[in-house]
Amino acid sequence: MTNSLLPYSLSPASAHPIPALADLMTRSFEGYLVPINITEAVMHTMIRRDGIDLTASRVLTKDNEPVGIAFIARRGWTSRLAAMGITMNVRKDGAGTWTMEQLIEEARGRGEKEMLLEVIEQNTAGVKLYEKVGFKKMRRLVGYKLDLTSAPAAGDSGLSKQMDIEEIDIRELARTVAYHGLKDLPWQLSGATIMQYTPPARAFKLNDAYCLISNPEGADIAIHSVLVKARSRGAGLSAVLMRGLFAKFPNKIWHVSPIYPEEMGFIFEHVGMEREPLSQWQMSRVL
Ligand SMILES: CC(C)(COP(=O)(O)OP(=O)(O)OC[C@H]1O[C@@H](n2cnc3c(N)ncnc32)[C@H](O)[C@@H]1OP(=O)(O)O)[C@@H](O)C(=O)NCCC(=O)NCCS
Repeated sequence: MTNSLLPYSLSPASAHPIPALADLMTRSFEGYLVPINITEAVMHTMIRRDGIDLTASRVLTKDNEPVGIAFIARRGWTSRLAAMGITMNVRKDGAGTWTMEQLIEEARGRGEKEMLLEVIEQNTAGVKLYEKVGFKKMRRLVGYKLDLTSAPAAGDSGLSKQMDIEEIDIRELARTVAYHGLKDLPWQLSGATIMQYTPPARAFKLNDAYCLISNPEGADIAIHSVLVKARSRGAGLSAVLMRGLFAKFPNKIWHVSPIYPEEMGFIFEHVGMEREPLSQWQMSRVL
């Protein structure tokens, strides 16, 4: 996989040690819109949770020096560009375009039918690169935040809602998402990804509403999944469950990553959460 015009070549990420991949990813994301520091542990979690296939992922080298990385996750006929970065010294030289063209050809060669990715909307270089190689915007993905560190304690009504909340196995929530969630949910919200979560993350249920959160012992809690079964939608059940969790774990800062379809945003607005300034495009490329 060497280019005869450009001095670049690609090798399987599986041929490189995990700490070297983590370091290369950190260096490839220098100057990014959000600070990126990939440790070995983070790398292992990405590989396991997101279904990254290291044999299909690529390290980009120029004159035998690693200068870029592309992680590919795979499920059935679909792959996802889980992360892609080129080190600062070789950006704007066509390396990103060339690498993407190779990745698309390789995915076709594996018999896949679609490649997905998410890119921060404000990342001009990323959006331009992906549109140039044929990706189309599917929808905007948004995130939210709510700081309840100085909120007054919930009254009796908060307590009674908490009592109806039942803790369930994360696998039960994942099965429900796979069955009742949108078919084209972003990769990180899909039932297959949710299935990989383990304690200290915790899953809760209130009638037909479900919610997966990160370790509630921490000062910050992430909402990894919210779902209401189709037959009970439109009755504000997700808001009742989320308010119940806010009361059960008081004085926390609640976070929703910008991976939720914009059309779902109202469920977070209903509970008083504020939209985060960074949003993403979910993009797709037919192969
Ligand atoms: C996004 C990134 C991978 C692009 O790699 P690259 O090697 O610089 O890409 P290319 O040189 O092939 O450029 C691709 C297109 O984007 C344009 N582009 C590149 N950087 C740009 C910038 N900072 N602003 C505007 N356009 C830019 C190029 O001009 C080119 O378009 P053109 O052919 O119409 O001129 C690189 O900037 C990067 O690694 N950024 C940090 C990590 C990141 O953002 N990853 C993507 C999100 S996961």
